[in-house]
Amino acid sequence: MTEIRKVGVVGCGLMGSGIAQIAATAGHQVVVVESNAGALETGLGRIRGSLAKLTDKGKISTEMRDRALVAIESSDTLEALGDCDLVVEAIVEDLEVKKTLFADLGRATRDDCILASNTSSFPISAMAEASGRPSRVLGLHFFNPVPLMKLVEVVQSEKTDDDAFAEARAFAERCGKAPIRASDTPGFVVNRLLVPYLVEAIRMLERGEATKEDIDTGMMLGCGHPMGPLTLLDYVGLDTTLFIIDGWHERFPNDPLFTPPESLRQMVAEGRLGRKSGRGFYEWDGDKRK
Ligand code: CAA
Ligand code: NAD
Repeated sequence: MTEIRKVGVVGCGLMGSGIAQIAATAGHQVVVVESNAGALETGLGRIRGSLAKLTDKGKISTEMRDRALVAIESSDTLEALGDCDLVVEAIVEDLEVKKTLFADLGRATRDDCILASNTSSFPISAMAEASGRPSRVLGLHFFNPVPLMKLVEVVQSEKTDDDAFAEARAFAERCGKAPIRASDTPGFVVNRLLVPYLVEAIRMLERGEATKEDIDTGMMLGCGHPMGPLTLLDYVGLDTTLFIIDGWHERFPNDPLFTPPESLRQMVAEGRLGRKSGRGFYEWDGDKRK
């Protein structure tokens, strides 16, 4: 088993920035590839802010913070990933866009480089086929916010070889995460349970059965969840959630759990994407709900 030393991250949004951060604090060299210059600046700023908070709280040392900041380079081209041992994709949740990227990654990276997707909902096997080297492709599904959430789902498709799986799992552990093995099924373990619950909260609000505040308070105080479902939807991003549920509805049109709520589509069309756009079910001031 070869040890992963240099890590590429494609996409520096909510998730990619967090993945780059934890890979760097764990001692890896990191290259972030982002297609949008503004998003790259925001993402790098998010990394600096998160490292500063973790340092202030004594969760990481100032040396670790400084080493991590130096270890992260950025680029706007996939050619920068040529000597990576692992590349984690964290771009928009759109299967066609991801497949195109995996085809490009298959050409831009070494044959033995592991290609991982952070997809919330799409089949790893589809991206694996597109890459032209399915045995080195798997899912590494991190949770938001990446620097704080302990879980990583390591998703093995039918064609992922055991070595690649073991190397990716060891990488997750080195990053301080607790990996679980997941099969290449819709939503893997967590989102198969979580997303229908989140979407049902939207339907409950649409039916006028409770206020958004009462739905959230209900699940926080009644079930001990750290956030209610509508706050969590804002936190995840309403665009991402719509991509997930639309993708599943297309694949499983007769499953009522996967029917997209009309109000979700409307909010996304209005640019109400949740925390990242400052407004979703709630108003946001940076990372805090107003
Ligand atoms: N880096 C460093 N520190 C961070 C941070 C980050 N990225 N994000 C938040 N923090 C800090 C906050 O600044 C805050 O610090 P202070 O106390 O000094 O202000 C501290 O963490 C606690 O945060 P909050 O006060 O905002 O609130 P909290 O106590 O509720 O904790 C939380 C935040 C850990 C996010 C918690 O609310 C939580 O666990 N929420 C649920 C998250 C969840 O379910 N995530 C999964 C989403 S689904 C998914 O990821 C899969 C998918 O495919 C869609
Ligand atoms: P995001 O919109 O915050 O970030 C995506 C970033 O990818 C953007 O900055 C965009 O400019 C960039 N991008 C798009 N196409 C690109 C390309 N071809 N090359 C380089 N950069 C490109 O989205 P996010 O919330 O970080 O989600 C990213 C992925 O992670 C999605 O697959 C999503 O389903 C998954 N995910 C999201 C969450 C969450 O809570 N938001 C949790 C787990 C997994």
